[in-house]
Amino acid sequence: MTRYAQIVGWGAHLPERVLTNKDLEEIVDTSDEWIVSRTGIRERRIVHSPKETTGSLATRAAAAALHRANVDANDVDLIICATSSPEHQFPATACLVQDALGARHAGAFDLSAACSGFVYGLTLANSMITTGAAETVLVIGSETLSRIVDWSDRNTCVLFGDGAGAVLVTASEEPGGILSSVLGSDGSGGDALSLPAGGSKLPTTVETVAARQHYVHMDGRAVFRFATRVMASATRSVVAKAGLTLDDIDLVIPHQANARIIESSVIHQLKIPPEKVFVNVDRYGNTSTASIPIALCEAIEMGRVRPNDNIVFVSFGAGLTWAAAALKWGAPVSATPHKWWQTAQRQGNYGAARAQSTVRRLIRNSPGIELPEIEIPEIRLADPLRNLRI
Ligand code: UT7
Repeated sequence: MTRYAQIVGWGAHLPERVLTNKDLEEIVDTSDEWIVSRTGIRERRIVHSPKETTGSLATRAAAAALHRANVDANDVDLIICATSSPEHQFPATACLVQDALGARHAGAFDLSAACSGFVYGLTLANSMITTGAAETVLVIGSETLSRIVDWSDRNTCVLFGDGAGAVLVTASEEPGGILSSVLGSDGSGGDALSLPAGGSKLPTTVETVAARQHYVHMDGRAVFRFATRVMASATRSVVAKAGLTLDDIDLVIPHQANARIIESSVIHQLKIPPEKVFVNVDRYGNTSTASIPIALCEAIEMGRVRPNDNIVFVSFGAGLTWAAAALKWGAPVSATPHKWWQTAQRQGNYGAARAQSTVRRLIRNSPGIELPEIEIPEIRLADPLRNLRI
């Protein structure tokens, strides 16, 4: 049996606080006219409470994806959290999400490929699923970039926003799902977009903080040139790899960094009509790894995704990296009416996960008391050798 990796659940979470271009005029020397004409951005969402973190946004988006698919957190095998603003160097934000969801049988790790991270994660999920190494994978993109941008640097602070999006990918016998992907990196351009200090090469010191090296630094023009070139070529190759032509594509969901980049690469170079290209950068700015899954959720809500549609995700980011994925949409998009008790049960499970986490922390900190063994589920994965047997 051929295994396919299908997106069966999706969810997004955006902070409530809206920061408009007018608000930014009060913070740095900029104008609504400049921001709109150079980027297409009108407003973005920004976290305002210390309780809103990359992990908490990711958890809410992931819970929404599980809810949409009607899948229990205990059935997830792997959680991949792509992020450019992880809560810590370690532990991985994905582990915090695993704990918050009570996903007791899931491995979890963060993926660092900047704005391309979500598509990198999706590619990995596809490989894990099609080889039989996993059945159910959560791929999340989550950011609180407002905490790592320099609010005195008009070159960067006007561009970014906070938010999270997630998809649940599962093994399916239904042909389709993720058809092909293209990943790329050109580390010679690493300096063009970086967070210079706070890693092992340049640990945080009074001097690095004074020099504002713990914030995002960017050569905007260099990234712009790279992006317009690579978005078009990555789209061409992923479509060809899927055995399709550009005319077969029903919807392109590009990384939402700048409306001009999308226009120049996808619309002008590839000549894909604007009605087949999803853009919401005007409302959320650049949410890095979260931009594609947030856009996907909105596209579905707006009725722009239908079963059997050929969809392309394409992204670029720090690294420099790029990534594209082509998929044939398989899941029904009309709202699945959940039974009230299913919703209540899931909420109850998250409450129980929080309680269980607290108890485990207490026990771990109590000398002489042993933590109960973590139950390791029976191997229920498909036998990867099965296809070789006759
Ligand atoms: O996910 C990947 C993340 N990064 C990106 O996607 C960034 C890619 N680059 C871009 O989107 C664009 O290069 C920017 C939006 C960053 C800049 O647009 P641009 O058309 O390339 O402008 P520029 O860098 O050529 O700058 C033009 C002028 C400069 O002034 P001078 O040197 O010509 O006097 C800047 O200082 O605009 C000035 N400027 C601003 N003015 C008002 C830069 N930022 C601002 C601002 N408000 N916020």
